[in-house]
Amino acid sequence: MTAPVEHLPDPHRPTWHFVLPANWMNDPNGLCQWKGTYHLFYQHNPHGAFWGTMHWGHARSKDLVHWEHMPIALAPDPDGPDADGCFSGCMANVDGVATMLYTGVRGDAQLTCIATSQDDDLITWEKYLGNPVIAALPAELDTTIFRDHSVWRENGIWYQIIGSGIRGVGGTALLYRSSNFYRWEFVDSLVELDRVSQGIGKGATGWECPDFFALDGRHVLVASMWDQEPIVVAYFVGDYADHRFTPTHEGVLDPGTAYYAPQTLTDEAGRQIQFGWVREQRSTEAQIEAGWSGVMSLPRVLSLLPDGSLAATPASEVETLRGRHVRLPGGQIVAGEPLPLDGISGNSLELLVTLDPSFRETVAIEVLRSEDGGETTIISFDATSGTLTLNTTGASHSGQVEGGVYALRHVGHSDDAVTLRIFVDHSVVEVFLNDARPITARAYPESLDATGVTVSTPEGVASIDIWEMRP
Ligand code: FRU
Repeated sequence: MTAPVEHLPDPHRPTWHFVLPANWMNDPNGLCQWKGTYHLFYQHNPHGAFWGTMHWGHARSKDLVHWEHMPIALAPDPDGPDADGCFSGCMANVDGVATMLYTGVRGDAQLTCIATSQDDDLITWEKYLGNPVIAALPAELDTTIFRDHSVWRENGIWYQIIGSGIRGVGGTALLYRSSNFYRWEFVDSLVELDRVSQGIGKGATGWECPDFFALDGRHVLVASMWDQEPIVVAYFVGDYADHRFTPTHEGVLDPGTAYYAPQTLTDEAGRQIQFGWVREQRSTEAQIEAGWSGVMSLPRVLSLLPDGSLAATPASEVETLRGRHVRLPGGQIVAGEPLPLDGISGNSLELLVTLDPSFRETVAIEVLRSEDGGETTIISFDATSGTLTLNTTGASHSGQVEGGVYALRHVGHSDDAVTLRIFVDHSVVEVFLNDARPITARAYPESLDATGVTVSTPEGVASIDIWEMRP
């Protein structure tokens, strides 16, 4: 008789970020708050932990942090324009009816489709019989890609943008309008084409998952820069008039290359809440072996800072996951020594590091650190330049994972205390500088004791708060 195979808990599987029980997930889709309930749809392959046969999975939540898995919302139809996949899209309330715009894929064609739901829980979806509603690309443009949607209503007219690119020029978003949501007319590129290949857009041949919304009196366009593969998520802040968006600021939303294809919803309280797909940074084989792939970021509330740049702050609901708490005043920290976590697991916690306003040095915090220090993820902040760095190059001994050094610069007022909020959920690390600037990455230590936390210097550290995070 053979002994039953015992499955050890998967040490890399997050427990309080949104993940699937099994199989593949990528982009968040159709985000909305519908009749009080938050809905998260997502790109999903129900046949394995690898990309393919894209469906729309579905989950719902009352509070953005506790999710209930729902039945699959959209599946490819072998006879339909989405025979080869239901790609990314968004949600609109069309005369009281929940209505999805998504990209149907059939062979080489990627065309705009619609589905509607009549039930309050958004469980059953009916595809529009007239799909695709945009059946051809604008003939006057030589486009690279043509997929993913962001929709809004303006003076009684519907507008949507579609992620695209112009061959030899760069990525862009193409603007369409409709009076009834079902017949669409091409208007123009949302952004002047001369601008799109410059600055942050340089090197991108297409923009995936564009997301366009009003924020704090301005307009914001978020787009995932793509050149045969994901590059980075860019944002533009600017003014929108006469169906043209003119950016005045641009930046990288999250320099962690794991963060991609984010989408926002405007909730009933008026918050602009963003979720991003936190990609795996390990080999396809390792993902298939794990049996699951892809994580959603924590919900992030977007706002504009006084300098005109875009800030992302963890939604306050995340704090409801906090359990046991330990507070260490700076004086109780010994440089380089493991922090006393008091039984809180080092791979499921939130750390809040508060620095003295006068601090002018560099502090390094190691998390997911093995006892011998051979595996470690390092978050450092250089107060002179205002640079935050997340370094995962030494996070794992495995040859199957990709590490990186991701950095951003943020100079606030020098008389303010600086905070580093560090969320560690097994293989997911999200760091927020001053509750405004995020870096996201994955870390896959192999040592089971890689749960230590150390701080390089007590000087300048006013305090460290540690919370256990509850699944
Ligand atoms: C972005 C993306 C989208 C596409 C979807 C397919 O990650 O490539 O452009 O709609 O994923 O799964």
